[in-house]
Amino acid sequence: MEDTCRKYESEADKGSFYITTPIYYVNATPHLGTAYTTMATDTMARWQRMDGKDTRFLTGLDEHGQKVAQSAAAAGISPQEWCDRIAPKFKEAWKALSISNDDFIRTTDERHMRGVQAFWNALYEKGYIYKDTYDGWYCVPEETFFTAEQIVKKEDGTVVCPDCGRPLEFVHEENWFFKLSEFGDKLLAYYDEHPDFICPTTRRNEVISFVKSGLKDLSISRTTFDWGVPLPFDEGHVTYVWIDALLNYITAIGYGSDDPADQEMFAKYWPCDIHYVGKDIIRFHCVIWPAMLMAAGLPCPKKVFAHGFLLTKGEKMSKSKGNAVAPADLTAIFGVDAYRYYFLSDVQFGADGAISMDRMAQVYNSDLANQWGNLVSRVFNMCGKYFDGKVPEFPANQADAPNPLRDIAAGLYDRYKACMDVVDYSGAVAAVGELCSAANHYVEDSAPWNLAKSEETRDQLAAVSYNALEAIRSMALFYAPFMPNTSAEVFRRLSLEGAQETRRIQHCSKWGKLAAGNAVTKGAPLFPRLDAKVLTLADK
Ligand code: MSP
Repeated sequence: MEDTCRKYESEADKGSFYITTPIYYVNATPHLGTAYTTMATDTMARWQRMDGKDTRFLTGLDEHGQKVAQSAAAAGISPQEWCDRIAPKFKEAWKALSISNDDFIRTTDERHMRGVQAFWNALYEKGYIYKDTYDGWYCVPEETFFTAEQIVKKEDGTVVCPDCGRPLEFVHEENWFFKLSEFGDKLLAYYDEHPDFICPTTRRNEVISFVKSGLKDLSISRTTFDWGVPLPFDEGHVTYVWIDALLNYITAIGYGSDDPADQEMFAKYWPCDIHYVGKDIIRFHCVIWPAMLMAAGLPCPKKVFAHGFLLTKGEKMSKSKGNAVAPADLTAIFGVDAYRYYFLSDVQFGADGAISMDRMAQVYNSDLANQWGNLVSRVFNMCGKYFDGKVPEFPANQADAPNPLRDIAAGLYDRYKACMDVVDYSGAVAAVGELCSAANHYVEDSAPWNLAKSEETRDQLAAVSYNALEAIRSMALFYAPFMPNTSAEVFRRLSLEGAQETRRIQHCSKWGKLAAGNAVTKGAPLFPRLDAKVLTLADK
């Protein structure tokens, strides 16, 4: 991946790994776009766990703000009730996509509200806030302030958002302001000293030129509605929703709590290893967030990785555009693992990607049905037919025979890890795919059906079968972060139930660890070929 970044390992490696998704607005239910960030985060979290890191994966919901208050009012219910109706839909959707988050924060949680107030006190004590009048524009759907220079005036006189094109509101309020303007040079110095902080590089350049153009102080409280975290020292003010939301990353790991266990958790996981965000919210995460942390005297995150958008007909998928598709519509056709595999392997993480059913079906059939699924079926069948459904002993007299699969597998951990270190999912998947396709060729070229004809070639047959089974075990390990259910199934069939839960993949993936005599079950195809009728339906 050319436009990428360096590794996220810090000098002070604590053996922990903390990764987050943005917290999603509760005005919409999960769609392919929000699921994309969540799956990518899940895959990285699974990999880090398998690679021995004490991993914490956080996701959650952004429940305050004017937009939620308005949606609830329109539905005739309280904002809290609105949030309580939407929250389970996210939890269910993530469960259905096999998301392995360790925590799920809601900004209406007591722990979060307490942490936000502690943060206000810290800013107040350090002198980084002051009260003034805000006169300017506000985009409710994006919950963002805009200055007179940033707005777009249409011919009919309406003033619209420069980002989303929807009408802006004029706001005249007494607010608390954060002295963001004092942080320009400090931020530029931080970017300079931490070249891996913003990824990919295009985003880094974008942020640097934004900061160089000059930062203005930011209004961080609101007084014209009350759906937010109240200020601890100024009644009638609630926290601006973006400040509230960004703080979730620290409140979820104990910031603002007196409990020693929470404080220990904070010390263990902060600073965060990676915040995954969409490219639309990079300024909040790479400008406002580090400035807030610097103001409070806290370390900044190690990395913010901004991925691209999933597009339908060239437009970002979103609820407001009316083009949102629920993950369940696709998993019903392709299954959860194939859905995860497609979005993470075929769309280069960091770039935009078009959502195409045709392409999904193509990738499903070529990589999963014809390669991975086919390999497992044919090798497990072989094992049933020639070795009574048991892993054969690798014959000692075959030790010096050419073993291309062992050679490829030997370097797989390093190649895969090198890709994951730079958040290159497609590269990591391709490294496993290389072994998969080599294994299919190896079985084909070795012609086990011929070797089975004579007792003289029995040892060769055993060696070929063992090698193919061992390659499958290795692939199931490395595919597990992407396709956890399929790997779990392959391990069940190899009588290695739960092997994907390892915390020592480097050790476990060493060649030759598959024990002879293990029962091997054939089972149904892992990825049945999609029939044409289903595909026609999918494209509608
Ligand atoms: N609530 C804020 C984030 C606060 S984080 C402190 C927010 N929420 S959101 O619901 O609009 O979702 C934001 C994230 O969802 C994006 O940054 C991105 O990660 C993901 N996506 C939403 N639509 C997307 C696509 N069409 N494609 C890819 N990702 C998308 O902003």
